[in-house]
Amino acid sequence: MSDIVVSGVCKQFDGREILHSLSFAVNSGDFLSITGESGSGKSTLLGIMGGVLRPDAGSVTVGGTDIASLSEKDLAKMRRTRLGFVYQFFNLIPTMTVKENILLPLVLDKKKPSDYKQKFDELVEFTRLGSVLDSYPDTLSGGEQQRAAILRALIHDPEVILLDEPTGNLDSENARAVMTLLSDLNKKYGVTIVQVTHSEQGAAYGNRVITIKDGALL
Ligand SMILES: Nc1ncnc2c1ncn2[C@@H]1O[C@H](COP(=O)(O)OP(=O)(O)OP(=O)(O)O)[C@@H](O)[C@H]1O
Ligand SMILES: [Mg+2]
Repeated sequence: MSDIVVSGVCKQFDGREILHSLSFAVNSGDFLSITGESGSGKSTLLGIMGGVLRPDAGSVTVGGTDIASLSEKDLAKMRRTRLGFVYQFFNLIPTMTVKENILLPLVLDKKKPSDYKQKFDELVEFTRLGSVLDSYPDTLSGGEQQRAAILRALIHDPEVILLDEPTGNLDSENARAVMTLLSDLNKKYGVTIVQVTHSEQGAAYGNRVITIKDGALL
């Protein structure tokens, strides 16, 4: 099954074409790396795949649903329930503890965190965050913050997690730890992963790599 199908996607900014008719599918259980030079359109493509940006032409389906057919409200709900997002700068909320941050997607979706206790405990163990759950994000190392952001993206059982340069702000040791975690999560839970990276080493953790150059796939 394909979790995300991108077909004929075009996007321009200020009359400059960034993506020219891109087509590919992300299959269930894939760990896809998207690479390309700075400015090649990687973040733009990820935004379109996650329903954050609209393409000028072409379509994106997530789990069989054409994103363009959704109202703003349904699109927001799809992003909240079926996708998980992780960014370069962790994006944890500084006034909430690590645990509160991780449970936030459930709270936003009016779900009871207690129903997710087993999953939460399992993921906390997997990400080795047990000792920092009651701490505030700014007291954590970068690697810990990014592991917390990944856990937050997974807590609500999304079909796909989308990551934009998840190790771009980490030293090489923490970057390796985060990539190993992603690879283990992909293998253990079969969660579909799409990551944007300009690191060759980072890209190699995926089971598939696509490269954008001059608006097209190499
Ligand atoms: N909202 C926008 N308005 C105008 N131009 C934009 C906008 N977003 C992106 N661009 C332009 O589109 C091009 C692709 O940007 P994008 O952020 O997708 O590149 P990227 O491959 O993610 O680069 P990087 O590796 O540096 O993050 C860039 O030239 C950028 O300036
Ligand atoms: Mg980018």
